[in-house]
Amino acid sequence: GASQQAPIGDYDFVVVANRLPLDRVEEPNGEVSWRRSPGGLVSALEPVMRGTSGAWVGWTGSADEAPEPLDEADMHLVPVALSEDEVRNYYEGFSNATLWPLYHDVIATPEFHRAWWEAYVAVNRRFAEAAAQQAGTGASVWVQDYQLQLVPGMLRERRPDLRIGFFNHIPFPGYEIFAQLPWRRQIVQGLLGADLLGFQRQGDATNFLRACRRAAGLTTKGSLVRVPRGKPGEPDPFDSPIRGGRSGRSGSGENPEAADDRLVRAAAFPISIDSAAFEEIARRPEVKERSAEIRAALGQPEVVLLGVDRLDYTKGILHRLKAYGEVLADGRLSSPEAVLVLVASPSRERVAQYQLLRDEVEVTVGRINGDYGEVGSAPVHYLHQSYPPEEMAALYLAADVMLVTSLRDGMNLVAKEYVACRYEETGALVLSEFTGAADELGSAFVVNPHDIDGLKDAITRAAKIAPAEARRRMRSMRRRVREYDVARWAGTFLDALGREPNAGQLAEQT
Ligand code: F6P
Repeated sequence: GASQQAPIGDYDFVVVANRLPLDRVEEPNGEVSWRRSPGGLVSALEPVMRGTSGAWVGWTGSADEAPEPLDEADMHLVPVALSEDEVRNYYEGFSNATLWPLYHDVIATPEFHRAWWEAYVAVNRRFAEAAAQQAGTGASVWVQDYQLQLVPGMLRERRPDLRIGFFNHIPFPGYEIFAQLPWRRQIVQGLLGADLLGFQRQGDATNFLRACRRAAGLTTKGSLVRVPRGKPGEPDPFDSPIRGGRSGRSGSGENPEAADDRLVRAAAFPISIDSAAFEEIARRPEVKERSAEIRAALGQPEVVLLGVDRLDYTKGILHRLKAYGEVLADGRLSSPEAVLVLVASPSRERVAQYQLLRDEVEVTVGRINGDYGEVGSAPVHYLHQSYPPEEMAALYLAADVMLVTSLRDGMNLVAKEYVACRYEETGALVLSEFTGAADELGSAFVVNPHDIDGLKDAITRAAKIAPAEARRRMRSMRRRVREYDVARWAGTFLDALGREPNAGQLAEQT
């Protein structure tokens, strides 16, 4: 590995992600501090990167400044600058008001704007250039998530010697939905610059392979896509009338196979958490004390229910509140014996759909508290805040029932964090079937959050679960989360990436 003093262009391993693991925050008094970035991506990758002496290329979370690269916790952090306009158009616009709703099954209506797309292309190019500058000869570069889908292709153009991986942290939609995107072919083409493409579930990889056939006219066989090697100056092979048309599933003869075609693999690599680290935090005496303090502050209820999400319309927060409100109305649970703690961390606050959702959530919480609360006790404790891992672990320990009700979710690491913290094998998880986590945590109370009656039944059963059943379910989920942790996820992906014949090697063979 490259040492921390390595000159530019000397890193063997480079991560490229929209965000750096730390956000630069300017306090009202002008003071600058660094805070851990929000979201699943950073919590998953940070433990992987620690100790690798790799470089991490990303954005600091604020506009118009790119601090000098800094070395922090064994990583070389390389900030990429975004102008205020680019934050609007690339981040809030194309990433989070076009791709995010589109890839989450159009729960909210995606907007398509050409100016947003142009900013997306320009910013992806900047990330690709920064990564090309950091990577040593033959290095591995791991590009992350939907904000940077053009980076693999742009990077391969500049640096054909690199081994390029890409991991999509969110779902990849079915073709009928993906096809709405006016730039679907460019996205597929950009992704195919990688040697290996990782997705959360097999279904996501399958959707992507279909997009390769339908949007780019390529042939696929199993998990492999055959990509013709475009030579500079020649017309884009994706635009040829033959390749642009319908195409067979497996080299049907429509597309002549050239000897130097690249083969790109697309497969499932379900992400996870640092399970042992979470359990270690949960076992600390001060965290256990804090969890007792939380239950006391809530009025020592019989049942504490918990929801933890970014305040995002994909998370099914309104469905959860509807079901909980009805359970109270029906008298199947009642306040103050039952309390719901709803942690909704601030997210993408300038995007219109998020502002609408915040208003709806806050109206709904107020209504439930007004209808079913009494002086001194509220059935919903709503917190529009984010917390460090220690406080999260204390909340998980304090919660008898964890509610994960996403309408669509790539993985949902909160479900795994809850399980990792429940070392006493108590507690129950209600888990939406529309999360990647549901593929792994079959011993949860798996629900369809659109089915409000089903969700109410699951909430009630989870709240009244017998200790023996809770133990049986929790033990089996804990086994899974302990074994398949984030180190195993990254190790499996990077091993597979190492086995892919990369562009440089293929060229040597011919
Ligand atoms: O985990 C999915 C994800 O979109 C990450 O890519 C992102 O870092 C995280 O959620 C938080 O979102 P944001 O970076 O927009 O605050």
